[in-house]
Amino acid sequence: MSSNDFEPRPLDTLKPSSARIYHHMVTGEVIFESDLPFIHRLYAEIPFYPLWAQHNRRFLARAVRHMAGKGIRQFLDIGSGLPTGGNTHEVARELVADPRVVYVDNDEEAINRARDLLRDQDLLSTTTMVDADLRDPARILAHPDTRRLIDFTEPVGLLLVSVLPWVPDSDDPAGLVRQLRAALAPGSHIAMTHVSLEDAGMEIKQQVAAGAAIFTDTSTPVTLRDRARFATFFDGWTLTEPGITYATDWHPEQAVDTDDYARPCNFAAVGSLP
Ligand SMILES: C[S@@+](CC[C@H](N)C(=O)[O-])C[C@H]1O[C@@H](n2cnc3c(N)ncnc32)[C@H](O)[C@@H]1O
Repeated sequence: MSSNDFEPRPLDTLKPSSARIYHHMVTGEVIFESDLPFIHRLYAEIPFYPLWAQHNRRFLARAVRHMAGKGIRQFLDIGSGLPTGGNTHEVARELVADPRVVYVDNDEEAINRARDLLRDQDLLSTTTMVDADLRDPARILAHPDTRRLIDFTEPVGLLLVSVLPWVPDSDDPAGLVRQLRAALAPGSHIAMTHVSLEDAGMEIKQQVAAGAAIFTDTSTPVTLRDRARFATFFDGWTLTEPGITYATDWHPEQAVDTDDYARPCNFAAVGSLP
């Protein structure tokens, strides 16, 4: 079987997943009716969650444009999620002819949908979806599809956008980022975001904590981290101006709404390798 002859991944429709819920928050699409009770509980606890997700998604697009503007032609997007609008390959193609993109996720629906989209767009020669887990960087880096599309002697744009919250401390998230960094050439870039409550007001802290507790009941519990901890994930990288900001504030393309409740709940930054 060639690496492009993908077998669909079997789905557990009864277990809510962070990928499906995030996709709903960005697009409004309900993928499985069985997700609805979970989605309704989240709306009740965190009414601004869709706004948070949309801010996060827009940061991803701005970070990809920034990297493409720096001459990055190949992207490794881990925890890429279900394809919505503004996928990495689509954004990169605005600026780069035939960018190479390796998507990685461990969610069945994200994998199946991304593969369908890439097949429909006839992009499998330059873009792929690898079924792998961020907690196994060696497998991601050695995967035949990764090796087929990424030239590790050239700079890579590494995207870890809102995926580290799903990696508990016991899995050493900073160590995982370090292992990925060690494989990358000078000039490579990284973009990360991380949900946080550090700067949120008391009411929002209570809402997000209640929402996070809902995820604890699922197969994908979420870990909230503060700015200092998020900063450790950039060890060895040179932060791009303006450093760590809220996702909304990182090179915004429109005026930032400082009254926005979702704004302080997502740290973001881009770094590069000297
Ligand atoms: C909140 S979504 C973010 C999607 C996309 N990166 C974005 O920012 O728009 C998190 C994604 O990370 C994936 N994910 C969570 N833990 C993962 C892991 N250990 N390995 C690979 N993917 C993971 C989930 O399946 C989900 O698709």
